[in-house]
Amino acid sequence: MTPRLAKGIFWIGTLSSLVVFLAMTVHTHRSFDALTHADALDARVVEGKRAFERHNCNDCHTILGFGAYYAPDLTRAHARLGEDGIRRRLEAPEVLFADSYRKMPQQHLSPREIEDLVVFLGWVSNIENHDWPPQDSPNRWKRSTERILAGAAMSPAAALVKQESCLECHAIGGTGGGAGPRLEWIGGRRDAEWVARYLANPGAVFPGSRMPAYPNLSEGQRLMIGEFVVGLAASGRTP
Ligand code: HEC
Ligand code: HEC
Repeated sequence: MTPRLAKGIFWIGTLSSLVVFLAMTVHTHRSFDALTHADALDARVVEGKRAFERHNCNDCHTILGFGAYYAPDLTRAHARLGEDGIRRRLEAPEVLFADSYRKMPQQHLSPREIEDLVVFLGWVSNIENHDWPPQDSPNRWKRSTERILAGAAMSPAAALVKQESCLECHAIGGTGGGAGPRLEWIGGRRDAEWVARYLANPGAVFPGSRMPAYPNLSEGQRLMIGEFVVGLAASGRTP
């Protein structure tokens, strides 16, 4: 190869790569509004972002690759956890993560801030980032819930336990949250009717209870969950 040819290859290669790179950059910048759903970016989203900054969530969390890696990436948190899932974690991290090695602090967010953060994370979650950076934090509660309740399609009661995220705070078969007692332990001291009453309003049974009430469920559904929970003890599954 002559030096002239080598130079030619160098320049053609470099310049064509540069042109492609610039064209892609311009294209990406032009697509920002569509990719980020800019039309949905309203004052609530902005307030949520301000709250995110005010409370230094980025000191532990990442969004779109920006932030720290101590805690889960929040880019898709809203899609992973849903509105209620986010809300519960922000209201009572000390309950939901009681069992965790790495702690999320209780930051005493106001109800307004929590709602704004939910909206902000919802907007972030819809950004089309072509799956980059890859999400490194498949929600482990959800993963374990899915494994334990794999039969949910067969049992309507298990499906309810899954739907209402009981395993965020309770464990079955050693997997799940540690904020409340293991569900296999319930049947030894309670019956299904007691559990159903308790689910309607835990605070009425244990004043100051940290367990949420489930008035959204019908009496029949609460009883079904009660039978499922009590049945765990009867079926002899060990914690
Ligand atoms: C001191 C570090 C720290 C700060 C500050 C912090 N978090 Fe967290 N957060 C954590 C840790 C650690 C976890 C994971 C706990 C676990 O799964 O056991 C977590 C979990 C979460 C989760 C659940 C994520 C998932 O995928 O399960 C959400 C949502 C969340 N944090 C939101 C926030 C928001 C919003 C703020 C700011 C208001 C914030 N966090 C501030 C440490 C922090
Ligand atoms: C946010 C966490 C949380 C969630 C979600 C949760 N629980 Fe609880 N649960 C608790 C805590 C904490 C207790 C311990 C007692 C208390 O504070 O009321 C408890 C207590 C209980 C008890 C009574 C135990 C006893 O015999 O004294 C039952 C039964 C129960 N939970 C079932 C459920 C079911 C079923 C679900 C889902 C529909 C659920 N829990 C969802 C936190 C939670």
